[in-house]
Amino acid sequence: MTHNLLIIKGDGIGPEVVSAARVVLENLNLDLHFEEAKAGYACYQEVGDPIPQATIDAARQADATLFGAVTTPPDIPKYRSAVVTLRKELDLYANLRPVRSLGLKGAHYRDNLDFYVVRENTEGLYSGQEEVDGDTAIAKRIITKKGSERIVRYAFELAKRTGKRKVTVVHKANVLRLTDGLFRRTALGVAAEYQADGIEVQELLVDTMAMRLIKDPENFEVIVTTNLFGDILSDEASELVGGLGVAASGNIGVSGAIFEPVHGSAPDIAGKGIANPLATFLTTVMLLQHIQESAAAERLQNAITKVIAEGTLTPDLGGSSNTIQVRDRVIELLG
Ligand code: NAI
Ligand code: MG
Repeated sequence: MTHNLLIIKGDGIGPEVVSAARVVLENLNLDLHFEEAKAGYACYQEVGDPIPQATIDAARQADATLFGAVTTPPDIPKYRSAVVTLRKELDLYANLRPVRSLGLKGAHYRDNLDFYVVRENTEGLYSGQEEVDGDTAIAKRIITKKGSERIVRYAFELAKRTGKRKVTVVHKANVLRLTDGLFRRTALGVAAEYQADGIEVQELLVDTMAMRLIKDPENFEVIVTTNLFGDILSDEASELVGGLGVAASGNIGVSGAIFEPVHGSAPDIAGKGIANPLATFLTTVMLLQHIQESAAAERLQNAITKVIAEGTLTPDLGGSSNTIQVRDRVIELLG
């Protein structure tokens, strides 16, 4: 079966890491058809729009999209963030972040983690509804039953699919009684449906969760939570296994699936050829799983584990290799 993949390179190191990933994909002997579309600041400077309609349409059409990173200039009024726009337009409600130990060495890195953070990606405190009333600024924290239900269901289905036995629902319902009250009630309702599958539900308040991620992160399998909490907890969690250079993510939803490394466009190292491509390669593993090429996903994951073990790494991870050297070594190790 041909898989139609969309490539959005973006700005800064985006083109460097995504081009490397494309070459890796081309070496997996799959039936892939690639299209490319533009987004980001360079695109804005060229055509006056950081996320043209043609790009949104292409992402909707594709079986999956690989997105690099974009520069978001802070000072242009009404500038639309390309990633946020895509998430909204395609209703990509599930933000998925695997947290898996890769054998990296670092003072606070853990070597026995394998869990997921599932973050609601479309509502919550990031609903985009803010207003100012004199000296008071207000952001609306929108929680809906529908939004809560589908993200929690996504988390349980993920647990089922990946053989996980526990889903931890994270909220602050003791204080946010109405919004997180609704999220919590809805989550526990969905959880009840999965009892027969033997998947346990646990609930934790978000502050306790932040502590437990440091104290005993090996006790988690799937964590599901609302938008802002998930944003913060997923960054915290990714730091336990190596941080930005290896943090992968997927935005999955009704009308598409967009996979992106967590890092940004890294203007400080752009063009130097030393960007770490591993976050994008791990993102590519997620993309391959999504298009149900699980054997290829496993080959790539294993090759990544091996380059890390042998130390073929970019400077950000203490190595002396460049982007292309890491890419080519991963390709050799695909077997
Ligand atoms: P950043 O993630 O681009 O960079 C933070 C630091 O990590 C920098 O020192 C950078 O050199 C390093 N770094 C990041 N990725 C790396 C990689 N693959 N290999 C080696 N080193 C890496 O975050 P920053 O500097 O806060 O933002 C830069 C731009 O990126 C901004 O315009 C921001 O808006 C945008 N951004 C875009 C995101 C996206 O496209 N999803 C996410 C985060 C930021
Ligand atoms: Mg974040």
